[in-house]
Amino acid sequence: MGAYKNLYVLLLLSNFMLLVHGTYYNEDKTCRSRSTNNSVICVCTADYCDTITREVPVTGRYFAYTSSQGGLRFSKSTGVLQKHTDDKSNPTLVLDPTIQYQSIEGFGGAVTDSFGINWLALNNETLKSHLINSYFGANGIEYNMIRTPIGGSDFSTHPYTLQDSPENDLKLSNFSLVEEDYKYKIPAIKACIDAATAPVHIVASCWSPPVWMKHVHNITGTSRLKKEYTQPYADYHLKFLDSYAKENISIWALTTSNEPLSGIMSLGSVNRLGWTTRGMGLWIANNLGPTIRNSAYKNITILAGDDQRFSIVMWYNVVIEEVPEADKYIDGIAVHFYFDDLTPPEQLTRAIEGHPGKYVIATEACTGVTSDQPVLLGSWDRAKKYINSILEDLNYNVVGWIDWNMALNEQGGPTYVSNFIDAPIIVFPDKGEFVKQPMFYAMGHFSKFVPRGSKRINVKATYPDSTPLANIAFLTPRNTIVVVLHNEVNQARAVRIQLGQLDALVYVEAQSIVTVEFPYSQ
Ligand SMILES: *[C@@H]1O[C@H](CO)[C@@H](O)[C@H](O)[C@H]1NC(C)=O
Ligand SMILES: *[C@@H]1O[C@H](CO)[C@@H](O)[C@H](O)[C@H]1NC(C)=O
Ligand SMILES: *[C@@H]1O[C@H](CO)[C@@H](O)[C@H](O)[C@H]1NC(C)=O
Ligand SMILES: *[C@@H]1O[C@H](CO)[C@@H](O)[C@H](O)[C@H]1NC(C)=O
Ligand SMILES: *[C@@H]1O[C@H](CO)[C@@H](O)[C@H](O)[C@H]1NC(C)=O
Ligand SMILES: *[C@@H]1O[C@H](CO)[C@@H](O)[C@H](O)[C@H]1NC(C)=O
Repeated sequence: MGAYKNLYVLLLLSNFMLLVHGTYYNEDKTCRSRSTNNSVICVCTADYCDTITREVPVTGRYFAYTSSQGGLRFSKSTGVLQKHTDDKSNPTLVLDPTIQYQSIEGFGGAVTDSFGINWLALNNETLKSHLINSYFGANGIEYNMIRTPIGGSDFSTHPYTLQDSPENDLKLSNFSLVEEDYKYKIPAIKACIDAATAPVHIVASCWSPPVWMKHVHNITGTSRLKKEYTQPYADYHLKFLDSYAKENISIWALTTSNEPLSGIMSLGSVNRLGWTTRGMGLWIANNLGPTIRNSAYKNITILAGDDQRFSIVMWYNVVIEEVPEADKYIDGIAVHFYFDDLTPPEQLTRAIEGHPGKYVIATEACTGVTSDQPVLLGSWDRAKKYINSILEDLNYNVVGWIDWNMALNEQGGPTYVSNFIDAPIIVFPDKGEFVKQPMFYAMGHFSKFVPRGSKRINVKATYPDSTPLANIAFLTPRNTIVVVLHNEVNQARAVRIQLGQLDALVYVEAQSIVTVEFPYSQ
């Protein structure tokens, strides 16, 4: 007995010592920070790049990861789960894993031509792999989704499609991938897939078909598909799937054209295709749907919409009302992040009410649009835009959230139509570095800890004062509970997370996002 007792003391002691000395945790490279604007950026060079390793939760403990305006980046802490007390002096979140909502599909970013160009410009294999690993690797934020344009977009160096000539060719006999695919997008996508810790689900979207398919011979501006090209435009998608399959890249989803509304209203000089709701319904029902479902790619997900929240009703509910046959081909609705304020988030759930099996997924977001400072290095405010959008969308049953360009240059490009914007990573090839902005960590607080198949669970929050704390909770396939908290006030707060008879009392910094994980045991 004595020997066992000593062993027990030794174990307790060693556990304590390990915690004190910090070696309890996986070793991570901390952010090499540089203060700028209202927070910090983390600088990566070939010699150094910060990492984040997820701790495997142990019974009776939680792990917490904090990023803050003050400069913390995935700062780890741990604590003991305590027996529940009815103390109401702190904000309290009561979790109920028996009330479950949507299943999570994933998180990711876009491989545009511009991303590929900026990644290649780093021109050093070590530095390039730091960038990919930062997003997809086990020591990165473990993205599991990518969106990529079919042909060019505004984040290209010139306008093009995958068959610019010959024109008026119903058979698409000269369809082919281009230099941008072979040089930039395919190598970048393959590097992401190789680094990833889960299957990468790729969403492909067409910005503009060949101009000769449109009633206006122009890649931008107001346009519609000419009637005779409805089937060739569906075949154009099929040929894209074939071409990428030949490169060993399988596509998970197609959207039914990027931002069709702007092709009706001619918003901005971006590659466009406009649709009427009836035209869209007929194209899905008669062309795209049957073409895909009768092909080798019949399992591909078809996502309607791919446009702003305020147009969900138009691109889903009105489309299927006008052409009911279209509904059987539509798996889900893709939604973009811009102008969210125009429409309450209830729209996200209302649109699919009474349509079992349908879901909404967020496929594009960025900050700095039409700003005097498209790139605002270190902006915590822009990270907050991402955090608040993800929390709002996911709390209204959205199943995934995909960012736009994964990396841009310091101007916020290249973009041949000067549509300069911000990105979570900005590259500085001349200095041999890239920097991770607060938006990168905002994404990571979700993408790294909420794997595919996680179920959102019910949270009932009570606050001692009237200052709410945005939050969301999941039950993961790892049989853990993950809670994400967003503190938007300038004061630190202690938060009680209650699961049955256990409490995690978590310290939440001022202006911070915190991810908490602990084992789930019924
Ligand atoms: C803020 O960001 C801008 C744009 O990235 C940059 O030029 C500027 O140096 C930053 N300001 C400070 C104080 O670092
Ligand atoms: C990348 O850059 C580092 C630092 O400048 C250099 O030591 C290394 O040799 C380069 N690696 C490759 C693969 O080019
Ligand atoms: C076929 O496409 C290539 C570019 O991919 C172009 O160079 C060539 O001229 C096209 N052929 C015809 C007959 O238009
Ligand atoms: C294409 O449309 C844009 C406006 O979106 C216009 O500025 C441009 O002149 C047009 N080009 C042609 C060739 O018509
Ligand atoms: C695709 O994968 C197969 C089997 O692994 C391989 O033989 C082929 O070379 C690959 N093709 C390309 C274009 O990478
Ligand atoms: C489609 O999905 C089914 C069921 O998941 C699977 O058995 C089949 O192999 C898939 N077919 C293709 C072409 O991927």
